[in-house]
Amino acid sequence: MGLLTKIILLLIPIGVGYIYLKVTKTDPIPHVEDAYWGPKSEQGKKEDTTIRPFKIDISAAVLDDLKTRLTRELDSDRLVTPLEGVGFGYGFNSIFLKTVGNHWLNKYDWRTREKLLNQYPHFKTKIGGLDIHFQHVKPKPKNGVAPRPLIVLHGYPGSIIEYQKIIPLLSEPKNSKYNYELIIPSLPGYGFSSGAARPGMGTVEMANIFKRLMDRLGHKKFYAIGGDWGAVITSDLATIYPDSVLGAHSANCVSLGVQGHLRNFLALTFRSIFASPEEEEHKWLSWGETFSFIVRESGYLHIQATKPDTVGTALTHSPLGLAAYIMEKFSTWTNRTWIDRDDGGLLEKFEMDELLDNVMVYWVTGSITTAQRLYSEGLIPWSGINVDDVPTNVPFDCHALSGDIIVVPKFAISHKFTNIKRYKVNAGGGHFGAFEIPSVIAADAVSFFDSL
Ligand SMILES: *[C@@H]1O[C@H](CO)[C@@H](O)[C@H](O)[C@H]1NC(C)=O
Repeated sequence: MGLLTKIILLLIPIGVGYIYLKVTKTDPIPHVEDAYWGPKSEQGKKEDTTIRPFKIDISAAVLDDLKTRLTRELDSDRLVTPLEGVGFGYGFNSIFLKTVGNHWLNKYDWRTREKLLNQYPHFKTKIGGLDIHFQHVKPKPKNGVAPRPLIVLHGYPGSIIEYQKIIPLLSEPKNSKYNYELIIPSLPGYGFSSGAARPGMGTVEMANIFKRLMDRLGHKKFYAIGGDWGAVITSDLATIYPDSVLGAHSANCVSLGVQGHLRNFLALTFRSIFASPEEEEHKWLSWGETFSFIVRESGYLHIQATKPDTVGTALTHSPLGLAAYIMEKFSTWTNRTWIDRDDGGLLEKFEMDELLDNVMVYWVTGSITTAQRLYSEGLIPWSGINVDDVPTNVPFDCHALSGDIIVVPKFAISHKFTNIKRYKVNAGGGHFGAFEIPSVIAADAVSFFDSL
């Protein structure tokens, strides 16, 4: 036997052992401090803990400025003609972007949209030096039972807009014994919530902010729904405060830790061994397809995890640039085949006005830069506290949707969520489930919470 063969034979068991340890190891639950995230100049002052009513009421100056910019961008010839026949293949198609811009400038009426947004009450309160914004929908008791508190968390590039249609379906569901009291915050740095003044505000730290918010509202125990980053924050909430979270529903159950990635690799490579019965119907992409899809679609993630402020500067100054950058995701993340269409299939499942509402939340608050920073804080493993590989025993309902960017096999999350009550992969719907198919998601979440 040659030396090289001996070395290889020695390395194989070490590699297998390493993977085995990684896949089976569990970390303890860390303690998370109630930290201060505001500017240094305010630190140490007594925090005003009142909950203040808030109304979305954007000044005429901001709207006039937007109109001026949009007019100039649409009149100029600086938009570059797309290559022939590529649809959305090189990014947001600039011909369709003109359609979006013209609608925004001439048909979209912010004051009407603002009224719609204000039909459910908004509040702000200071937590850890940050102004935290949330919608609070408090229905009446049902059959003499007080509504059950439920926090609903959005992600990127979304906002509270994603949840406007699902509000009545969750707060006063028809086929349920209960009503649900909804708390729908803007994540720190997103929309109407202020961003941290220094590095470190990752998903665990956000979970801590929301635990403090629920405490302040008098809810020691509550239910949770989350999508995208909101799903990770929900999972972090359940992990660090297992006694507070009574149950959680997510269309994007995922484990971003080393174990999660390893298990995902194993499950996709040796499907016949690791597939759960619930996944049989789903058409998994091959490894090659998965890899090329991830490379094609994850450039934004790398930029935002490393240089969020650079691209943020451009996006904060150009409304058409911002719309293209945000709305592109609602195409490919809803249905990956729509990349071939000239309009990205955007109006297939969404209204132009509601897509623009979401862009407006970022535009009027100038929050795209602070929002993107979550990728720097949330994805770099050495920054801040990470509980991706710490298991949680809180009951979870994992409702994967087949049009999503990634569909995660049950095996790749079952070490993290040790009490998955239901797992399924549904054919209809993509990444923005509550926005795209609100009645399906609401019925699913409510039937799950009712069962607890
Ligand atoms: C994506 O769109 C194609 C073509 O319209 C359709 O056949 C397919 O079912 C859609 N996928 C999902 C997950 O909705």
